[in-house]
Amino acid sequence: MADKKKIILTGDRPNGRLHVGHYVGSLKRRVELQESGEFDQIFIMIADAQALTDNADNPAKIRDNIMEVALDYLSVGIDPEKSTIFVQSHVSELTELSFYYMNLVTVSRLQRNPTVKSEIQMRNFETSIPVGFFTYPISQAADITAFQATIVPVGEDQAPMLEQTREIVHKFNSVYGETLTEPQILLPENAACLRLPGTDGKAKMSKSLGNCIYLSESEEDVRKKVMSMYTDPDHIRIQDPGKLEGNTVFTYLDAFSNDGHFAEYLPEYANLDELKEHYKRGGLGDVKVKKFLNSVIQEELSPIRAKRAEYEKNIERVYEILKNGSRTAKEKAAQTLCEVKHAMKIDYFDDAAFLAEQKEKF
Ligand code: TRP
Repeated sequence: MADKKKIILTGDRPNGRLHVGHYVGSLKRRVELQESGEFDQIFIMIADAQALTDNADNPAKIRDNIMEVALDYLSVGIDPEKSTIFVQSHVSELTELSFYYMNLVTVSRLQRNPTVKSEIQMRNFETSIPVGFFTYPISQAADITAFQATIVPVGEDQAPMLEQTREIVHKFNSVYGETLTEPQILLPENAACLRLPGTDGKAKMSKSLGNCIYLSESEEDVRKKVMSMYTDPDHIRIQDPGKLEGNTVFTYLDAFSNDGHFAEYLPEYANLDELKEHYKRGGLGDVKVKKFLNSVIQEELSPIRAKRAEYEKNIERVYEILKNGSRTAKEKAAQTLCEVKHAMKIDYFDDAAFLAEQKEKF
C-alpha cells in the first residue's frame, strides 16, 4: 500500500478564463489548504486533455486558455513553491493508467454517471457521443489516483466523478491487490458556494450566456455586471417587500460577504441577516444592495487583479512554472504507473522473476 501522505489533486478544464464561481467553489479553498501546511503535496492540474474530449475540433480554444488558467491560479494565490501546477497532456502516464482502468468499468456504469448524463444533454451529443468524452470519468480517476491523492477539493458537480473514482480504486485493489489510494471529496462548506448562479440568475454560468464574472475582469466591467444582476422581478418600488429565493444578489452576498464588510461598507446593518430582513419587509432598494455587493466583490478581486498584472508582465516565468510543474507531476505519476504495472503483473522487464519463470517453463 502506498504511504499515508496527505496529498491533494484537483484541476480545471481550460475551456475559458476562470470566474467567481470557480473561485468560491474551489480556488479559494485550495489556497487555504495550501496555506494550512497540512499537506505533503499539492497538485493542481490544467485538464487540457479532458477539455479536448468535447472540443476535439477546436484545439485552439484549449491552447488559448492554458496561460489564462495558469494566470488565474497564480493570481488567486496558488504558490508554485508550495503547489505543483501542471498540464495534463504532458503527463502521458495518465493516459496509460486510463487504458488499464477501462477494463474495470462497464458501459452501463458510465451511462449512469449523472454528470456525464447531463453533459450529454447539454451538448446535444445524444447518439453521437465521442468515446473519449464518454470515458472521461475513467481518465479523471487516473488523474486522481496517479498522484495517490487523499483529498480532492472540487465543486458539487464533480461528486459523481469522485464516486466513480472510488469504485475504480476498490475494484483495482480487490482484483490486483492494495495499490491505489481511495480519495475523499472536499466540498465547499457554504451552500451558496456549491453552485454560484450566473449574474442573470440562471443556474449555470457560461461564457455564451455572458453571465459570468471573471477573475481577470476590470473593476468597471465587474461593477457593470453587479449593477445589472438579476434580483426579485416583483420588487418594483423600494417600499415593496422583496424575495430572497432566487435573488442572485443575495446568493452572491451569501457566498462573499462577512460581518466585517458590513462594518466597513454598510454600517447601518450588523450583518447579512439584518439586511435580508429589511429587504423582505420592504423599504430597501436593489441599487443599495448591489452597491454593497460591488464593494465586497471588488475587495476580494482587487488583490487578485494586481497579482495577475504582475505575472502578466512575466509570462516566461509562468511558462517555466508550468513546464517544471509538469515534469514534477510526471515523475510522481510514473511512480504510480510502475506500482500499477507491478500489481497487474505486467512489469516483465523490471521483474527478475519473469525471466526465471520463463526459463523454467521452456
Ligand atoms: N472535471 C474537472 C472540470 O470539469 C476537471 C478535472 C479533470 C478534475 N480531472 C480532475 C478535477 C481530477 C479534479 C480532479 O473542471
